[in-house]
Amino acid sequence: MNLQLSDIAPDFFAHTTDGPIRFHEWAGDSWVILFSHPKDFTPVCTTELGAVAKLKPEFETRGVKAIGLSVDTLDAHMQWARDILETQGEELNFPIIADTDRVIAHLYGMLHPKHDELYTVRTVFVIDPAKKIRLTLTYPQSTGRNFDELLRVIDSLQLTDSCLVSTPVNWRQGDEVIIAPSVSDALAKQKFPRGWRAQKSYLRFTPDPYELLVNR
Ligand code: BEZ
Repeated sequence: MNLQLSDIAPDFFAHTTDGPIRFHEWAGDSWVILFSHPKDFTPVCTTELGAVAKLKPEFETRGVKAIGLSVDTLDAHMQWARDILETQGEELNFPIIADTDRVIAHLYGMLHPKHDELYTVRTVFVIDPAKKIRLTLTYPQSTGRNFDELLRVIDSLQLTDSCLVSTPVNWRQGDEVIIAPSVSDALAKQKFPRGWRAQKSYLRFTPDPYELLVNR
């Protein structure tokens, strides 16, 4: 299945380190980062899972739940969690799916047989509370992902869902944002009371409206 942006993330049943789940029910009203890693007891994966565990407070602030997946067994996941604590100093605090029959991996296109015939590559799906896929990423097995970048994208998605803006290159929370070209200057005056600077008629920067939103 070739899942694309704005597709509904397929529902599934899974055995996880936190017990059996039905994905949509588990996700509830949260945003979700669903990510696959190739294999338990491997070095890059060990660092990634430690990093995701460390980011839990950042995920919670944004209403995000993380869930990992590999084709290894639950038993292996549980044993590996001890290594993650020992080497990364982090308790596994999110579920990992044991997709031993590879049903979910196939459903989400996490197997790239020309890259590896048996094990999943490093895919990521960011899924919104309406279960729509909002970001997809595929990394090779040898390259660990940057989970701070995923937080940055979620910040952008949550902001751009609520205001008529988009976020420029390398944007981080607090930086200027771009007023959507579809917004007339007259409407921009109402929506962006702090004003804007225009480099071109289609390139108008305004202060990050996040504070205005949270203080509304
Ligand atoms: C790793 O996690 O280190 C890894 C896993 C599979 C292939 C290459 C690296």
